[in-house]
Amino acid sequence: MEKPRFAVLTSGGDAPGMNAAIRAVVRTGIHLGHEVVGINEGFRGLLDTNFHVLSARDVGGVIQQGGTILGSARCPEFKSKDGVRKAKNNLQEAGIEGLVVIGGNGSQTGAAALAATGFPVVGIASTIDNDLCGTDISIGVDTALNVALEAIDRIKITASSHHRAFLVEVMGRKCGYLALAAGIAGGAEAIVMPEVPLEPEVVINLLRDAYNRGKAHAIGVVAEGARFNAHTLADYAKAQEDRLGFDLRVVTLGHVQRGGAPGAFDRLLATRFGVTAIECLHHESPGVLVGLQKGQIVCTPYAMVAGKTKGIDQSLVRMIELLAA
Ligand code: F6P
Repeated sequence: MEKPRFAVLTSGGDAPGMNAAIRAVVRTGIHLGHEVVGINEGFRGLLDTNFHVLSARDVGGVIQQGGTILGSARCPEFKSKDGVRKAKNNLQEAGIEGLVVIGGNGSQTGAAALAATGFPVVGIASTIDNDLCGTDISIGVDTALNVALEAIDRIKITASSHHRAFLVEVMGRKCGYLALAAGIAGGAEAIVMPEVPLEPEVVINLLRDAYNRGKAHAIGVVAEGARFNAHTLADYAKAQEDRLGFDLRVVTLGHVQRGGAPGAFDRLLATRFGVTAIECLHHESPGVLVGLQKGQIVCTPYAMVAGKTKGIDQSLVRMIELLAA
């Protein structure tokens, strides 16, 4: 008798820990008596039937690797009704009875559309942006945050030597979580994010105040999605350089934050998510996003989370002012 088949894909921006999730899905699936199919290149591969069966050995030695062994892609075609219909047909023709989608906000919106057709889908929250509803934290956030922090710590050293100010731009799409968390943990003088808009004048004043207080450096952490990005702020500051006190430089961290090996937190989180996701399919409880809430694994129906963006943690925002000194 043929084993029931499930499939797994990674979609959208890669995140450190995706491989640990794939590994957990494959090994738990096999343990539960299933065959697990890997879909290459995300939803693109789903439309192109880029499928191959994964063995337990195929996912050996990947838990410590960043990126995704399945590859990822952005796939506009999947956003159409025809794309979703084609994806469902391709899965059914390959005898696949359930799909695990490892990805962020856009990917889970796509996965929810497929789930709405009645096909069993389970999502795993995975994005460095930490903007997904239904989970306190997603795969990759902790590692990306540590990468950003290490960069900020290093920049601070050279900034102090030269009495400079730096604007460090971090990723996050429209969400300011990475900037907020890196800014607080990195002891930044200014944090600029989409959720708490600051006029350029205010940002420059924050950096100048640090100079006036006798600090050897000033660091502003800027979210890429903020109304004024780091370069715009720097252009504004240029005209005010005499007033700023410091010489000002800009560093954009970019994709450096997405690469690299997942830390312990992300490996564990991804493994817990992967095991739960395949168990949901096995126990016929699909149509959910697997996330972490108050330390517990929680499965939230897609209808409650898809297409929504998590707000910023106000308890962290409140700390910015308390810690400024
Ligand atoms: O969603 C993850 C993310 O890294 C965002 O922070 C960033 O805006 C975007 O992806 C970059 O996308 P790409 O790798 O396609 O340039």
